[in-house]
Amino acid sequence: MAKLPQVTWGGRFAAGPAELMLKFSESVSWDRRLAPFDIAGSKAHSAMLAHVGLITVAERKAIHAGLDAILAEIEGGAFVWDPALEDVHMNIEQALTRRVPAAAKLHTARSRNDQVATDMRLFFKAACGELEGRLAAAQQALLAAAEAGRDVLIPGYTHLQRAQPVYFAHHLFAWLEMLERDRARFRQVAERANECPLGAGAIAGTTLPIDREFTARQLGFVDARGRPRVTQNSMDAVADRDVFIEFAAACALLGVHLSRMAEDLILWSSAEFKFVELPDAFCTGSSLMPQKKNPDSCELLRGKSARLQGNLHTLLTLVKGLPMTYNRDLQEDKPPVFDSLDQAVLCVDVLAGTVGGLTVNRARCAAAVADPALLATDLADYLVAHGAPFREAHHAVGKVVAMAEQRGVPLPALPTAEVRAVHAAFGEDWATVFDLRRALAARRGTGMPGPKQLARQFARWRRLLS
Ligand code: ARG
Repeated sequence: MAKLPQVTWGGRFAAGPAELMLKFSESVSWDRRLAPFDIAGSKAHSAMLAHVGLITVAERKAIHAGLDAILAEIEGGAFVWDPALEDVHMNIEQALTRRVPAAAKLHTARSRNDQVATDMRLFFKAACGELEGRLAAAQQALLAAAEAGRDVLIPGYTHLQRAQPVYFAHHLFAWLEMLERDRARFRQVAERANECPLGAGAIAGTTLPIDREFTARQLGFVDARGRPRVTQNSMDAVADRDVFIEFAAACALLGVHLSRMAEDLILWSSAEFKFVELPDAFCTGSSLMPQKKNPDSCELLRGKSARLQGNLHTLLTLVKGLPMTYNRDLQEDKPPVFDSLDQAVLCVDVLAGTVGGLTVNRARCAAAVADPALLATDLADYLVAHGAPFREAHHAVGKVVAMAEQRGVPLPALPTAEVRAVHAAFGEDWATVFDLRRALAARRGTGMPGPKQLARQFARWRRLLS
């Protein structure tokens, strides 16, 4: 069933799109969330048109008033979106046309191609700002959990085997570093987005005397010194989707970080470890096994990371092999990006909530970290400090460890004489190595888990997150 030709582009058409085609091609069901950015873009564009004399000041005022009213309607939920008008841009333009005759001049020297590129760059700047703020809140929650378990020691793991003792807080600080890099990445993506494509038109700019720098300034596409930043090639401006991919990549990597944290929490909360108790509010029960308390928030964090990676993959595949410049395929660039933002925001908030309700099981941590084998490397360091080459020291300690294992006793319980028989550099005081606090205190260098460094890191994070 053919409909009336489209008002915005139907000039050359005898009939409008089929019902099925409308359903297939509409994007307003999801791109309507760009409305605030689309309206900001249209206000800046019409301000520029008035500035260069392509419309009158009265026309600009009428357009601005109309757009403000439409935005208020959209925000109030009263605006009626029409899928037959395809997308957010045409819905808003048509609504404006019904109110303001001057609306017919709004699209002067503009195409939906540079319009949507602009909307999305504004969207990315806002999205990155939002994620940065949420990430900082999650970091605060981690810092608070580190404070609460400040004096707790746990085994650190490599290959998921007990390796060396660390402060619980040192482990959480590793997570803080990961999130700090994510935060920096979103700042960088926002900086990438900070170029105004308006004026590129459909592909080759316009013959009309527009002022691109004026528009860019209006929309905040400026550098640190307030100078306007505009795209430098009209074809690239409408074809480029790099920032979409960079944003999705930053979300995917954030997802991977959250997934690794979630995995640690899942392990730590299992009966086998029991280092922490997760908050009831972020766990669920089993419909069959009454005793179960499942770490669902963490498992979902792990699962969502797959989805965030999928969105990145969708975008890479979407853009690959597209001929220059704009192709309608690119309409599919928005759902993955919106989903990445929404899911990343949720994930970061859920991590903050889960960590915020975490309690540390001090007794279980103390029991696990009391394993003297965690200090076998310190014992090798002892031999090195007493003149032995490290490879020789490592070998000797290996023998001592095997000896303890054979006898089924903890390392420090071995008779000194027998230990000294393994290597002459072992002194009477060899077993003092197994004093945990002393072992930690010896780890003094930057980035190490000693108490002095820990205090420095607490101060650093408090400063960074204040
Ligand atoms: N809804 C379209 C999109 O998101 C807007 C641009 C349409 N441009 C065009 N030449 N049909 O890609």
